[in-house]
Amino acid sequence: MRQDYLWNEWHPVCIANEVEDAPKQVFVLGERVVVFRNEEGVHAFKDLCIHRGAALSLGKVKDGNIVCPYHAWEYNSHGDCTKIPALPCGKAIPSKAKATVYHCQEQYGLIWVCLGDEPAPMIPYLDYSREGYRTVICGPYDVNANAPRIIENFLDVSHLMFVHVGMLGDEDHAEVDNYTVSFEDNRFITSRIPVYQPNPDGRSKGGYTDYVYEILNPTTARFTKTSKESEDELTILVCVNQEDHEKTKAFMLLTRNYDLDQPDASFVEFQDLIFAQDLDIVESQKPELLPLDLQAEMHLKSDALTIAYRRWLQELGVENGTIARIDEKRNNRKKVLH
Ligand code: FES
Repeated sequence: MRQDYLWNEWHPVCIANEVEDAPKQVFVLGERVVVFRNEEGVHAFKDLCIHRGAALSLGKVKDGNIVCPYHAWEYNSHGDCTKIPALPCGKAIPSKAKATVYHCQEQYGLIWVCLGDEPAPMIPYLDYSREGYRTVICGPYDVNANAPRIIENFLDVSHLMFVHVGMLGDEDHAEVDNYTVSFEDNRFITSRIPVYQPNPDGRSKGGYTDYVYEILNPTTARFTKTSKESEDELTILVCVNQEDHEKTKAFMLLTRNYDLDQPDASFVEFQDLIFAQDLDIVESQKPELLPLDLQAEMHLKSDALTIAYRRWLQELGVENGTIARIDEKRNNRKKVLH
């Protein structure tokens, strides 16, 4: 599978502490990838040994090198083969003996992989280490759906009153006020959208909450919730790894500036419940690929944000898969207003 519009993006593949001593197999855009850690940091290779195609993820990390499980060829951080045990003494290692290396970095508690040669900038706007704030990672959530379906669901305001009734919405407060969507600083952002929420984060403190949504890239979005009644602020960032055509992993970074002394587990449990409520809906949606032709479905004013998302994906060439450089498109974009 080659999804060009995502090829140069960073994809969250696992939680950072899942990669310690042993290599780990992950999938990105249909590619089998191994991630491993050594003293220099984290690394991602194609999960395939050039000798006989064995999965390097079945091997081990020894002296900073990843060792193939089959005939123990060793590869260093740059993918160069440094040892072939079966080679007669004094024989040079062929220069072709290399692993395919991908870009890899550890950020925000996650491991990120980029398959392309020209990685997009890492997701900006994530100052989650601010004093007085606490971030907890929720997920990963396995979903049998395409990544844009998950992102669009996250951006969809008017489902809150029905799918999450009694928590994030109320059927008697289903109207969505008009709001604006603009493109600023390389991301889409909405004006404040007030939503009545009986139990917005599991603390049973109901009232009106203002949502501000942002789309940071095709597979990453965020909202920030505030209210006029308090200084409490809750941000949830969702980032989705398209593992293959039908399987995705969604991670959520939940950042709050209140109840910092309370256990994170209750916030995670609440988010797990919310995600489970969305899951059946998202997995049921047809067609599997988000329809980018706006004539294909019906739209309301309250769908302004998801319309902007679909239009953007269409500009990026998602439909025909011809786009290689998403960052160029992003930079060329000036303003989209509704
Ligand atoms: Fe990896 Fe032979 S297949 S060393």
